[in-house]
Amino acid sequence: MKKIVIAIDGHSSSGKSTMAKDLAREIGYIYIDTGAMYRAVTLYALQHHYIQGDIINEEALRADMDKINISFQYNAETGRPDTYLNGINVEKEIRSMEVSDKVSPIAALGFVRRAMVAKQQEIGKAKGIVMDGRDIGTVVFPDAELKLFVTASPEVRARRRWEELQAKGEQVSYEEVLDNVKKRDYIDSTRSESPLRQAPDAIVLDNSNMTIAEQKEWLMQQVQSKIKNEELRMKNPTA
Ligand code: DC
Repeated sequence: MKKIVIAIDGHSSSGKSTMAKDLAREIGYIYIDTGAMYRAVTLYALQHHYIQGDIINEEALRADMDKINISFQYNAETGRPDTYLNGINVEKEIRSMEVSDKVSPIAALGFVRRAMVAKQQEIGKAKGIVMDGRDIGTVVFPDAELKLFVTASPEVRARRRWEELQAKGEQVSYEEVLDNVKKRDYIDSTRSESPLRQAPDAIVLDNSNMTIAEQKEWLMQQVQSKIKNEELRMKNPTA
């Protein structure tokens, strides 16, 4: 079967990562979480004390970029890939509050983005990948065969995030979470380096009122019809 590139972008807490991971597993594709890559760079900067409060030592980080090696390895227990930083499994550390707090300004640095985008393009050369992020369909793979833009209303995303935090025992009000979701939307879509934008040829999935099963069915239809079209196009390139 023809292998394609599937680019999944969208708002935070839209459920795109879970959707992308499940899809990759289902169709036997490699899943790449590009947010994890920006998180790994942030962890490296924290480990080397290049971040002090709100100040980033950009010169030191820039000089170290070729010493930062990020890779992914499949974890048979979780059925998902774990993120490795210079050969060490950092899957847990990159999800910490400390990293989450500092990742946005690191992901906004042009030299960091250029290094990560080059790496993502290298990984995607062989096709057969599902990559999720903010700029995959616009910057990393503008020619991806299938582009999805996942969203849901801020209220629905805030409720999902609030429920997750409640389950973890974190004391936070729904209003605070909603405020944070709206603030992150604003930062993500107004930064100067690769802002979150919907590619003109992306298919929009607003999952505000969809169940997981409905979403899955919709997604499989999109993927199957795209692969079929690509196969037809290969057989008859002039059509
Ligand atoms: O999806 P996430 O929360 O793990 O992403 C972490 C951060 O990285 C978040 O601030 C958005 C940013 N990011 C980005 O700028 N470009 C991407 N392709 C993926 C994530």
